[in-house]
Amino acid sequence: MAVRDEKLLIGGAWLPAESGETFETRNPATGEVLARIARGTAGDVDRAVDAARRAFEEGPWPRFSPADRQKLILGLADLLERDAEQFARLDTLEMGSPIRHTRGSVAMLVDLLRYFAGIARSVEGTTNRPSDPGTFACTVKEPVGVCGAIIPWNGPLWASVLKLGPVLASGCTLVLKPAEDASLAPLRLAELALEAGVPAGVFNVVTGFGAEAGAALAAHSGVDKIAFTGSEATGRRIVQASAGNLKRLSLELGGKSPNIVFADADLEAAAKTAVIAAFANSGQVCSAGTRLFVERAVHREFAAEVARIAGTLKIGDGLDPETDLGPLVSARQLERVCGHMDDALAAGAAPLSGGGRLSGAAYDKGFFFPPTVLVEARDDMRAVREEIFGPILATLPFDSEDEVIARANATEFGLGAGVWTSHLGRAHRMARALKAGSVWVNCYNRIDPAVPSGGIKASGHGREYGRQHVEEHFQTKSIWIDTTV
Ligand code: NAI
Ligand code: MG
Repeated sequence: MAVRDEKLLIGGAWLPAESGETFETRNPATGEVLARIARGTAGDVDRAVDAARRAFEEGPWPRFSPADRQKLILGLADLLERDAEQFARLDTLEMGSPIRHTRGSVAMLVDLLRYFAGIARSVEGTTNRPSDPGTFACTVKEPVGVCGAIIPWNGPLWASVLKLGPVLASGCTLVLKPAEDASLAPLRLAELALEAGVPAGVFNVVTGFGAEAGAALAAHSGVDKIAFTGSEATGRRIVQASAGNLKRLSLELGGKSPNIVFADADLEAAAKTAVIAAFANSGQVCSAGTRLFVERAVHREFAAEVARIAGTLKIGDGLDPETDLGPLVSARQLERVCGHMDDALAAGAAPLSGGGRLSGAAYDKGFFFPPTVLVEARDDMRAVREEIFGPILATLPFDSEDEVIARANATEFGLGAGVWTSHLGRAHRMARALKAGSVWVNCYNRIDPAVPSGGIKASGHGREYGRQHVEEHFQTKSIWIDTTV
């Protein structure tokens, strides 16, 4: 048993939850209990926020120069690289994602930390030019303060690193609340942060349930900013909870992203990518391309090709290096996805592949659902309007550019959008017309440390990755000097 098991990290010490209670976390491929996790509640959040406040105001952290912070983040990146395989296995074991996928994700996160380390050195204020010649004015950037992060289970290490990196780069401090279905990688990351020399209280982890630890963190008057990734419904609760002290928020919520294929596109590449866009991580991806609009002339053939490729994906335990798709994260998630499936069938949609929970000896103990490609779907079906967060893709024929723009945008969400065409002018027109935080042309779901990512409308606000992500952790202070005295 590791020292962190059944503990919270508060002020640099591993402590049991005040409640004394723990809960189980399971492997979704086998149903086995992997570990017990401390059930943090409001009192633990209080202790963690106090520790984060002290670390922000006093001790070594406020004296770290940008160069010191850069060095610290680079050190943490090296440790993550050293332990990459362990982290990949932890995420695969706890949330089911295939090991090939989690390995790739750790490598990207090492690079992401190194990117943030660079930004730590280059955040600058301005020298301004007031109209009054007797004044001098400039701006300085100051860290926002104590940050809270509430993260989902679909990429536990990914979300933890994405929240921690900018906090370290900016000189803020953090209380992280992992998802109850996936706390192991965040806890291990906290251990690594201590090893890297992150001062006590700069990074705190309070595991527990959303309605307990999460709600307490979102409402806490000692927290200056919350970064939340998760469902739209919980996002709304976090907005309400933030009103108490009017804390700053960044929200990365769900999506129902369109992926639009014109008949003039490279259809082979479009079909291959459409499968990955919808089914990677078993569809548990916020920017999954789940509404596949295909120009009518090629719709039938294209949908059949997507279903054929989907049928070749190997489904199984994520630890098997041959596995393309693992299980869904939990029994609860499987139940939600099955509910959407029943709904879609009842509404008249027809599956070209998949269509219901997988059964058989290899699947019965886990939560497996096959990649499902629907035809005969309509824009107004629940499965076409709501985020499913499972491997269900609706194909929808369209006739014209204007029509598909209107239909693609007719959603409360606006996270990502894909466009496939060989027509340059159309690519540019579509990129501007689609209402989404990211548009991918002849590709899908590209992510890079240097490129901002985030949503509009009900997909949230604020941007992660890129310079802006770090800058959202600063406030601008204006300093005025009367130069006439
Ligand atoms: P959720 O949004 O409830 O959970 C995300 C995080 O919020 C977890 O850490 C949870 O403990 C916390 N949380 C829950 N209630 C809270 C509250 N009242 N105050 C503060 N924190 C709270 O998502 P859940 O229930 O795991 O999944 C439901 C659906 O949400 C999925 O089917 C999917 O559609 C969507 N989702 C979207 C994600 C994304 O990346 N955009 C990630 C996870 C889920
Ligand atoms: Mg689990």
